[in-house]
Amino acid sequence: MATAVAEGTRSTGKSTVELSYHVEAEALARFDAIILGAPTYHHDMPIDMKKLFEISAMKRINLKGKIGAAFGSFGWSGEAPKLLLEIMKNKFEMNIVAPPLLAKYTPDGNMIDKCRNLERTIAENLIP
Ligand SMILES: Cc1cc2nc3c(=O)[nH]c(=O)nc-3n(C[C@H](O)[C@H](O)[C@H](O)COP(=O)(O)O)c2cc1C
Repeated sequence: MATAVAEGTRSTGKSTVELSYHVEAEALARFDAIILGAPTYHHDMPIDMKKLFEISAMKRINLKGKIGAAFGSFGWSGEAPKLLLEIMKNKFEMNIVAPPLLAKYTPDGNMIDKCRNLERTIAENLIP
């Protein structure tokens, strides 16, 4: 899903995309848009995501107004992407531009297309 989101965004040629499996809190400040992906385990987001948010809050990393979106695969409840968006919006005052993209287990072709198309929503909201 992450690869499809990144491919879709790159294909516009309008923005530079960085796909990362680990990011330091300070690095988040460099981006205009932040798209987070997480599977749901035990009705929750992974501990690494919580740490990222906690360190960002502790270090007062300013994410206000940045574009935010989230995606992830799940088995039966799929809370993680919704929780990610909730924190991005309420704690970091980010601009959430799309509902979470949720794939039940392995994403099918339709879901991969939705991931690729997330780019359009992001691009529409980026300040030219
Ligand atoms: C130990 C364990 C706990 C899980 N807990 C949940 C859960 O609470 N809710 C849910 O929707 N899926 C749950 N799942 C299913 C995963 O979200 C699902 O397999 C997802 O596709 C995993 O993504 P990944 O392969 O990228 O880690 C759980 C899976 C495992 C192995």
